[in-house]
Amino acid sequence: VENTFLMVKPDGVQRQLIGEILQRFERKGFQLAGAKLMQISQELAEEHYGEHKGKSFYNELVEFITSGPVFAMVWQGENVIETSRQMMGKTNPKEALPGTIRGDYGVIVGKNIIHGSDSPEAAEREIGLFFKQEELVGYEKLMNSCIY
Ligand code: GTP
Ligand code: MG
Repeated sequence: VENTFLMVKPDGVQRQLIGEILQRFERKGFQLAGAKLMQISQELAEEHYGEHKGKSFYNELVEFITSGPVFAMVWQGENVIETSRQMMGKTNPKEALPGTIRGDYGVIVGKNIIHGSDSPEAAEREIGLFFKQEELVGYEKLMNSCIY
């Protein structure tokens, strides 16, 4: 089964959107495998956003993601990587459609509420960065027989 890493960014936590965001993925039918509220260190931020090093917004991005607590999650399900990206909406909330998380709650690209892995490789890398194996829980969700 496919896994992805999703994270409510500091703006989303401050705006009390953790519950709202959890609910969207729960109601969709995906399965939560791990979650925690945490403060990202400078080192973790640089590692997580390594692909953006050198870009004009990189320093701002690292500063922002370490500015307060984030809510890190691992979600499972068929096609969860691509589908969760669709549920998040375009990177810039200005272009994100209504009905998506960024479209409904974000205004500017630098404060776009949520992060999600963009490929299977990124998902594996990011889950490994943020979670220890023992923090992830495998279980049979009874409702899966109604979803699949
Ligand atoms: P993530 O899920 O957070 O990785 O977003 P993404 O995959 O939709 O976008 P991308 O990986 O290209 O960019 C990472 C993050 O950098 C974005 O979510 C934005 O928060 C931020 N970002 C991207 N472009 C800009 C920009 O032009 N200015 C600022 N301030 N931030 C940007
Ligand atoms: Mg990205």
